[in-house]
Amino acid sequence: MPGRLEGKVAVITGGASGIGRETARRFAEEDASVCIADLADEPGNEVARELGGLYVHADVTEEGDVQRMYSETAERFGGIDVLFNNAGISPPDDDSILETGLEAWQRVQDVNLKSVFLCCKYGIPHLLERGGGSIINTASFVAVMGAATSQISYTASKGGVLALSRELGVEFARRGIRVNALCPGPVNTPLLQELFSKDPEKAQRRLVHLPMGRFAEATEIANAVLFLASDDASYVSASTFMVDGGLSGAYVTPE
Ligand SMILES: NC(=O)c1ccc[n+]([C@@H]2O[C@H](COP(=O)([O-])OP(=O)(O)OC[C@H]3O[C@@H](n4cnc5c(N)ncnc54)[C@H](O)[C@@H]3O)[C@@H](O)[C@H]2O)c1
Repeated sequence: MPGRLEGKVAVITGGASGIGRETARRFAEEDASVCIADLADEPGNEVARELGGLYVHADVTEEGDVQRMYSETAERFGGIDVLFNNAGISPPDDDSILETGLEAWQRVQDVNLKSVFLCCKYGIPHLLERGGGSIINTASFVAVMGAATSQISYTASKGGVLALSRELGVEFARRGIRVNALCPGPVNTPLLQELFSKDPEKAQRRLVHLPMGRFAEATEIANAVLFLASDDASYVSASTFMVDGGLSGAYVTPE
């Protein structure tokens, strides 16, 4: 049986780690050709080798790098059908608005929001050449709910990704391009595990809000991205696609 992404070419930013890496694996399992774009060359090359894909060193905040990552992908695989604009950062110096400096604010805006602008701006023409395609931009649950444990620039950047994605979904709807904002809930990453093993109270403060009583696994997010990338989602566009285990819908959670 052919895979759900047979004949499709996907570019995944931040594909060397976490959600991006699991999505690259999932896409390849479903027969996509995959380009991993990242700054982390060693793990990025490793994933690309594992999947028979392409690795491109690209800083998604740099216009020239973004253009090159697409031209190299199109040259290698003959075109581009899927963009997973997923690279993002949440550094510790992005904190409460009272503590966060302009430099940290700007750095996070550049990596999380400006990058999505650039990746869509230069990726959409490639999709149009193929007669359409699917774009998935990684926002976050914090784009739709507030946290007293603030990371102010991160939250604002993800709100920007959400609004930008919605608008592009509407603008390009009749040209065959679907654009969705993926909003993962908190994911069980090594970083999160380390943070919370040091401070179980910190973990508990968050876990109590999750109806399922656990964080997401990266593979669970990857499965949602696969759906949005595939033709199974042919009528899904301009959506705020929550993959949060019910977090954003919850008031009182089960004991
Ligand atoms: N982990 C979570 O709990 C969670 C929840 C909601 C949303 N998200 C979002 O999901 C996305 C992926 O998160 P993750 O947890 O897999 O992160 P991660 O840190 O495991 O992976 C992010 C990748 O992006 C790359 N990257 C960072 N800056 C880059 C740049 N300028 N150019 C190119 N690549 C760059 C990193 O090298 C890394 O490989 C991010 O946008 C994040 O904000 C994560």
